[in-house]
Amino acid sequence: MKIYLDNAATTRLDDEVFNTMLPYMKEEFGNPSSIHSFGRKTRSAIESTRKNIAKLLGVTPAEIFFTSGGTEADNMAIYQSIYTHGLTHAITSKIEHHAVEHTLQVLEKEGKIKLSWVNVDNKGNVDLNHLEELLSTNPRSFVSLMHANNEIGTLLPIKKVGELCEKYKAIFHSDTVQTMGHYHMNLSELKVHLVTCAAHKFHGPKGVGFLYIHHDLKLKPMIYGGSQERNMRGGTENVHGIVGLGKAMEIAFRDMHEHQQHIMGLKSYMQEQLKKNIPGIEFNGETGDGALYTVLNCLFPPAEHAEMLLFNLDIAGIAASGGSACSSGSNQGSHVLRALGTDMSRPSVRFSFSKYTKKEEIDFTINKLKELFAVKIPV
Ligand SMILES: Cc1ncc(COP(=O)(O)O)c(C=O)c1O
Repeated sequence: MKIYLDNAATTRLDDEVFNTMLPYMKEEFGNPSSIHSFGRKTRSAIESTRKNIAKLLGVTPAEIFFTSGGTEADNMAIYQSIYTHGLTHAITSKIEHHAVEHTLQVLEKEGKIKLSWVNVDNKGNVDLNHLEELLSTNPRSFVSLMHANNEIGTLLPIKKVGELCEKYKAIFHSDTVQTMGHYHMNLSELKVHLVTCAAHKFHGPKGVGFLYIHHDLKLKPMIYGGSQERNMRGGTENVHGIVGLGKAMEIAFRDMHEHQQHIMGLKSYMQEQLKKNIPGIEFNGETGDGALYTVLNCLFPPAEHAEMLLFNLDIAGIAASGGSACSSGSNQGSHVLRALGTDMSRPSVRFSFSKYTKKEEIDFTINKLKELFAVKIPV
């Protein structure tokens, strides 16, 4: 049996998405910039996808820019806001994804900005009073705070943060890679200037996503070349990827309630079973309504190192991770857990679920964990 519980790293491509993409890898191969019928066909596929995505998010098509995924969209949001508007101060947290953290650190190292870290508590909640203090003493800041943390699932009160940013005239970017396709959101109500998306987190293809840029925020191009993406990102478009992203968004929004109920049920079941069967288990990050329903990060009792636990689960056919995909296989590297003050001598494992996860798979995993924790392995 092969069990996949690492859906925060990536998800399985939906068959419906695959079938929608196929023609654009075969017969519909025209370059969208060509003016003949081949090109017009793929141009039309891209623009109708942009229109559909914008409609789902309550924004206009001109505010959606296709990218190669979450990392590029985060880089574009950060670099281009700071560069275009000559900003000299940015605010972020120690638990951001490296696509945000490393980008801001490079700008700080190059002397382009001063970087302030807003406090987070031991469950990953941003201290809003501290954020207001930082904003009020640093007018015209750039703020980057993720909507849901990819390792622990803790959610940001994005509306409140947006209101604070508006009050102090800051540019607000939120990495929504883990929440896009998992929650309904009307971006025009959130007072957020920039949000990012990666299709592969909700059963779309890898290597494609988008950046939403609020119409009031004008940015310089990130990639110079052709006039694609309204001069913001030169390069022939990833047509089949964009079409797949659009289909994945459509399905995610269409079936959202059903999938939420299914996944929330599995997560709370797994949590209860773990509490019952593994004495001393705790959970990293928020667990109730303040958390992303697709992620459960477990802090196991001191029995064996995280690498060994993940290795043993893998041997049993169960795929989980120690943190983000870039540090999977080890929680030594989890900057998020360290920033929260988590006991790093105990193994932490992130289990993350999708619409394809089955209850039998959770039961199998619980039984395997019971076995592993019944045998006392010296630390
Ligand atoms: C919160 C968050 N931001 C950004 C990314 C990067 O997205 P991508 O893999 O599409 O570059 C990921 C995925 O790993 C993520 O979880």
